[in-house]
Amino acid sequence: MPATVIVGVQWGDEGKAKVLDALAAETDIVVRYQGGSNAGHTVVVGQERYAFHLVPSGILHDRKVCVIANGCVVEPEALIKEIDALAVRGVKISGENLLLSDRAHLVMPYHRVVDQLSEKHKEDCGQTKIGTTGRGIGPCYVDKVARTGLRVVDLLRPSYFVERVKNRLAELNPLIVHVYGGEALDANKVADEVLAFAPRMKPFIADTAAYINDSLAHGKRLLLEGAQGSLLDVDHGTYPYVTSSNATAGGASTGSGISPRKITLAIGVVKAYTTRVGSGPFPTELTDATGEALQTRGAEFGTTTGRKRRCGWFDAVGVRYAVDVSGIDALALTKLDVLTGEKELKICVGYSIDGVKTDRFPADAEKIARAQPVYESHPGWSEALDDLRSFEKLPANAQSYVKRLEKLAGAPIRYVGVGRARDAMIERK
Ligand code: GDP
Ligand code: IMO
Ligand code: MG
Repeated sequence: MPATVIVGVQWGDEGKAKVLDALAAETDIVVRYQGGSNAGHTVVVGQERYAFHLVPSGILHDRKVCVIANGCVVEPEALIKEIDALAVRGVKISGENLLLSDRAHLVMPYHRVVDQLSEKHKEDCGQTKIGTTGRGIGPCYVDKVARTGLRVVDLLRPSYFVERVKNRLAELNPLIVHVYGGEALDANKVADEVLAFAPRMKPFIADTAAYINDSLAHGKRLLLEGAQGSLLDVDHGTYPYVTSSNATAGGASTGSGISPRKITLAIGVVKAYTTRVGSGPFPTELTDATGEALQTRGAEFGTTTGRKRRCGWFDAVGVRYAVDVSGIDALALTKLDVLTGEKELKICVGYSIDGVKTDRFPADAEKIARAQPVYESHPGWSEALDDLRSFEKLPANAQSYVKRLEKLAGAPIRYVGVGRARDAMIERK
């Protein structure tokens, strides 16, 4: 504090939202700063399970202001649907507790179309798909960088908005029709569909960077909620099998409009094993019964797409790399309980690539795909952990597993998740 960033240090779904929820009591503002509704952030409160996609998970807490900042990409229909679904469940959202950056880019209907058709096209051509969430995230960031995008602020200028949609579709329709074999989109119809959400969006629209900087100047505390994970980062991840934004801690500065010097603490969230959704290299992946067991016990299904998550052993090479790139001060280790019952746990401490040993994470995804994990073996435990609330009460082998992971990861493990429940987390003193 005052500004803490929470990032995933694997391939996403590390349990960021649960960790954020546990820390939210000590903050005033929660900010999402990158990604869009490709994210699926789960918080379990009693019997209720909330899955957030765009709305920061801090919204469950009273008297917190949640911000969807400039680095995010926002699909108006998805946002309004999410707000309405939360309202039905008693979560009150208004312009008082949710602010949406006027500079955030809009995910347009044609972004979804291009995302899905481009994946299908890759498949049809015998190329490897990225395995995207199909939410239009990549094509929206393409438009942002190409300077052909539309931003939230543009919803307030309908004639300009329509003009921009016309120009963009004049370029995209030939791609959709002639390359992908899809159907052309009607620019006026698309613009009208999106502009129809403008009145619902308006109460939330704000200059969020100014709001955040003013708040920090007045001593308010900030939690920056990362989406995806460091190994999916467009610069630092397993390119091209990545998302299209900066999921490492650096993204929090550009994505929210605050100085990197204001971010005083970086917390990395890491699962006690590894999962990945979509395509891309995964050296410690288990395609056997142990992988199935982790998938089942960990309920490893994508929160956004429902796809089965690929599962494998803890990869200290990838985690240490991610800890370095984000300057992680402390780690929150989640899902330790899922490992209960495994007699032997393996930890990947290095890679052997084409016969050469390394503990560095290569840039080349093909090389990572060829990496043979160098494993260290660790004894397991059989006791259930869900009800334990102090580190000393954990089975001795669980304690030594955690201590070994933190040594390999290069950052102290301050929190240990032992169950799905909101309070199933141990803070180590
Ligand atoms: P996020 O995207 O990083 O916020 O993570 P997701 O919500 O996509 O996936 C994490 C899943 O693990 C959710 O279903 C959480 O409820 C669950 N979870 C988080 N921490 C723990 C834990 O310590 N133990 C168990 N069993 N489940 C956890
Ligand atoms: P949270 O915030 C896990 C993955 C997709 C795909 C790749 C690119 O819940 O951790 P995209 O739709 O972003 O272009 O897909 O990134 N991916 C995620 N995997 N958790 C996420 O978010 C993800 N968001 C995107 O599966 O491999
Ligand atoms: Mg998730």
